[in-house]
Amino acid sequence: MIQFLLNDRLIQTAVPAGTLVLDFVRYQQRLTGTKIGCREGDCGACTVLIGELKNGRLFYSSVTSCLMPIGNAANKHIVTIEGINATGLNFLQQAFADEGASQCGFCAPGFIVSATGFAMSSSCNYQDGIDAMNGNICRCTGYKSIERAIGTIAGKLESRGDDDPLSFAIAQELLPAYFSGIKERLQSLQVGSNGYTREALSTRVVVGGGTDLYVQQHDAMQDADIRFVINEAPLKGILQVGDECILGASVTVSEMLKSPLFLENFPALRKYIRLVSSTQIRNMATIAGNLVNASPIGDLTIFFLALDAQVTLSGGDTKRKVPLRQFYKGYKLLERTEGEVIEQISFKIPPANHLFNFEKVSKRTTLDIASVNTAILLTMNGNQVATAGIAAGGVGPIPAYLSAASAFCVGKDPSAEMLAELLEIVQTEIAPISDTRGSAIYKRLLLSQLIKAHFSVLFPGLDLNPSA
Ligand SMILES: Cc1cc2nc3c(=O)[nH]c(=O)nc-3n(C[C@H](O)[C@H](O)[C@H](O)COP(=O)(O)OP(=O)(O)OC[C@H]3O[C@@H](n4cnc5c(N)ncnc54)[C@H](O)[C@@H]3O)c2cc1C
Ligand code: FES
Ligand code: FES
Repeated sequence: MIQFLLNDRLIQTAVPAGTLVLDFVRYQQRLTGTKIGCREGDCGACTVLIGELKNGRLFYSSVTSCLMPIGNAANKHIVTIEGINATGLNFLQQAFADEGASQCGFCAPGFIVSATGFAMSSSCNYQDGIDAMNGNICRCTGYKSIERAIGTIAGKLESRGDDDPLSFAIAQELLPAYFSGIKERLQSLQVGSNGYTREALSTRVVVGGGTDLYVQQHDAMQDADIRFVINEAPLKGILQVGDECILGASVTVSEMLKSPLFLENFPALRKYIRLVSSTQIRNMATIAGNLVNASPIGDLTIFFLALDAQVTLSGGDTKRKVPLRQFYKGYKLLERTEGEVIEQISFKIPPANHLFNFEKVSKRTTLDIASVNTAILLTMNGNQVATAGIAAGGVGPIPAYLSAASAFCVGKDPSAEMLAELLEIVQTEIAPISDTRGSAIYKRLLLSQLIKAHFSVLFPGLDLNPSA
């Protein structure tokens, strides 16, 4: 039995825990305002809000219900477009109407729910409002009118000052009054929890956010025996212990992006993460899911490979640490036994003078997987490279740590000549294939360009053209 709040109602259901929230709300609850487009997380038509308690506070974020199993909704608040509606149009819906930001209307519920997610965040920044829509596609209106509506909404949100976003939204009738009792209702659900219990875990399919599994094995997942690790407390949280950063395996990409520890150590993190999927997907996608999916172009995988991260694997009675650089043994072949679950990801926090950069090129700038991606971590001793880690994706069967290229950098003064030599070494370490994301030759060229981009970002004064 799974229980959660759906709009203003308590749901207790015995449907298989792998059932998608989208199917549950449309076919079991007849809440058909949530639309079905792609069923692959790409269009945002099925966007709902998920409200959950974190350290006693209620937070809402947008997710694509077509990839979210109902087991991940346990003890949470799911809000569909029907749950947002009151008697008339709220100011957010009015802004869309005034700007003509909807024509056929098919995408509109998804956009309005995403915009509500923005209104429930702590930001009233226009660009954050635009980013909140980056997982929503509209086929007929044109995005300019949607952008203008967001401008109006962001302006209105500015007037809330330091007020709590939820109280402001209720006071402004952006949300119906029942939202004021949701926190207490979720607390009481958790106390007598039959949300979901942890039993016979090792035989189960492990699901984090489901954003890979539900795309790859959509039908099989519906009735699978699932372990929902996203709600397991020991697998959550980002901590500093000594000089190490330790992330729970079920930390989502959005949680990583909000982490003060990450933002302090990687000031350009927001720029990198904007290139990863969409807001809705990042709100569900876990770091461990990205590592175990073992895609040669996983963005987080490349990020953590450059940092020389380790994964802590737990097999019930056993626990071991494996460097990520040894985790990938062949295409989708991992240094991990079937019953082992990643509990943590850890890495040594780089010294204050470190240099880090992440680059990604894909066919579309956002909401697309990489053709080639790469990350670099350098520590410096004066002008000389003291340590180096370079990782690259899309250039071989596994996410690649470029060990020869990294070793070459150590002890060198960055210069155009050094970079030219480095690029030659990089080319000996990769074996890209031609596929839909580009030809092998293109990917070779692309990686060289992206390594140059690393140097241009990290050493802005450096002339990258070798002297004649
Ligand atoms: C529209 C869309 C866009 C995307 N864009 C990008 C992108 O730009 N860049 C990118 O890198 N990825 C992208 N992805 C892929 C996906 O979102 C990421 O790989 C994500 O991090 C997967 O995490 P998850 O928690 O959803 O994984 P899940 O689907 O839950 O799981 C993936 C795999 O990991 C295993 N697993 C999960 N947690 C654990 C654990 N703790 N221990 C052991 N095994 C575990 C599962 O069993 C499964 O084999 C995109 C996906 C979609 C649908
Ligand atoms: S139906 Fe397209 S994102 Fe869910
Ligand atoms: S208004 Fe028709 S798809 Fe957006």
